[in-house]
Amino acid sequence: MLTAKEIRDSFKNFFESKEHHIVPSAPMVIKDDPTLMFTNAGMNQFKDIILGNRPAKYHRVADSQKCLRVSGKHNDLEEVGHDTYHHTMFEMLGNWSFGDYFKKEAISWAWEYLVEVLKLNPEHLYATVFEGSPEEGLSRDDEAASYWEQFLPKDHIINGNKHDNFWEMGDTGPCGPCSEIHIDLRPAEERAKISGRDLVNQDHPQVIEIWNLVFMQYNRKADSSLEPLPAKVIDTGMGFERLCMALQGKTSNYDTDVFQPIIKVIAAMAGTEYGKDKQNDIAMRVIADHIRTIAFSITDGQLPSNAKAGYVIRRILRRAVRYGYTFLGQKQAFMYKLLPVLIENMGEAYPELIAQKDLIEKVIKEEEEAFLRTLETGIRLLDKTMEETKAAGKSEISGKDAFTLYDTFGFPLDLTELILRENGMTVNIKEFDAEMQQQKQRARNAAAIETGDWITLKEGTTEFVATTILNMKLPFFVTARSNRKIKLYIRLYLITLHSMQKVVVR
Ligand code: ALA
Repeated sequence: MLTAKEIRDSFKNFFESKEHHIVPSAPMVIKDDPTLMFTNAGMNQFKDIILGNRPAKYHRVADSQKCLRVSGKHNDLEEVGHDTYHHTMFEMLGNWSFGDYFKKEAISWAWEYLVEVLKLNPEHLYATVFEGSPEEGLSRDDEAASYWEQFLPKDHIINGNKHDNFWEMGDTGPCGPCSEIHIDLRPAEERAKISGRDLVNQDHPQVIEIWNLVFMQYNRKADSSLEPLPAKVIDTGMGFERLCMALQGKTSNYDTDVFQPIIKVIAAMAGTEYGKDKQNDIAMRVIADHIRTIAFSITDGQLPSNAKAGYVIRRILRRAVRYGYTFLGQKQAFMYKLLPVLIENMGEAYPELIAQKDLIEKVIKEEEEAFLRTLETGIRLLDKTMEETKAAGKSEISGKDAFTLYDTFGFPLDLTELILRENGMTVNIKEFDAEMQQQKQRARNAAAIETGDWITLKEGTTEFVATTILNMKLPFFVTARSNRKIKLYIRLYLITLHSMQKVVVR
């Protein structure tokens, strides 16, 4: 059985043998593209080449790219942990041609690699092709279909609509029709009952897309029109973790050697085993997934913070901490202890993890500790709210209460919803959204300036008050516990100021 490392290397070796230049993964965090916070596809680092704004140094390249799909057009966060094949961070194996080869070679090499090199059973493979879109003036991709027909019987070639078979980087940018390769990993008796063809693109956990071959030909403009690209481009992306699942004969990405070593350490910390309890398993998958995202974000220069990309990372970390706290009994910081096993498994392919180990551990530990403190206070408050709501004969808490939890205790809405769901309760989302809108309006009106933990509405004194008070050393007779209490009161006081529009607390 091939290991994850061998699979990654074999992909690079294969495309090297087809005269591709192997390039390193770009950082997962994007700092210079206003349309994108994180790398969500292998092609991001080549966007300027694809659009013709920068010449290509090599016309054929391949790599393994760290990707993150947690915001914007491609967002998988909610599924992560609950299913067995979505991730926040994942590796995308890709090959590109910038004005060199096109559909014929892209399709025949993909086939050669999967079937001849990796020995996947061709009977379990399906290919989709773009069916066309009259409103965009685009016809069916007969050319791609004709190449697939050289390898696959007709009933393994499936037409797909714009949603599935016209790939776009975002609302604007490079795009084009695509052909996806799907694999049916179900056991023979299930395959005999229902054809894999009927399950392609139906969210079946074992009939999944593994590789997307995009035939980039257009640039989507802001007015949504399509402008032809200066040269035709091949952009492919294969889900590495899914490929490992297929090759290692598993039914879940988390059962491969990409995740199992991390899951084993989590299970040992929690004194449990993976595969014994549904809810615990979800928690372990969430944590195993999220530790990778957080560690790689930090190495790529994005620390958790209160705004934009930093806030996304903070939310992911909090999601993991909360699962550990509730389901695995982790009442102390624990995520940072997963760094050694992560490095053992990924440090060779991504040496930045080794180089920045101390920093990553320190940042994660501090974040965890800070969140655990607010978590306990917030959970107490939510418990009280739930009790009162139940006593009033209701099962929905007010959006205002959920907003207080968000605003004061850093509870993302999904966290509050998760706790409520476990108690058979819900939240009034409309009210929550209205509160959020009001807060945003207040911030906009005052032209907020980002300053880390605190945002000043009127520059000057309030920023000084907030940061200075929270950083000040209290006298020696104040214990750590009461120190925290005092700071909580100060926070509450600042929230009062915030409601008077003097400071915004996020
Ligand atoms: N850019 C294509 C994708 O991300 C390959 O699916």
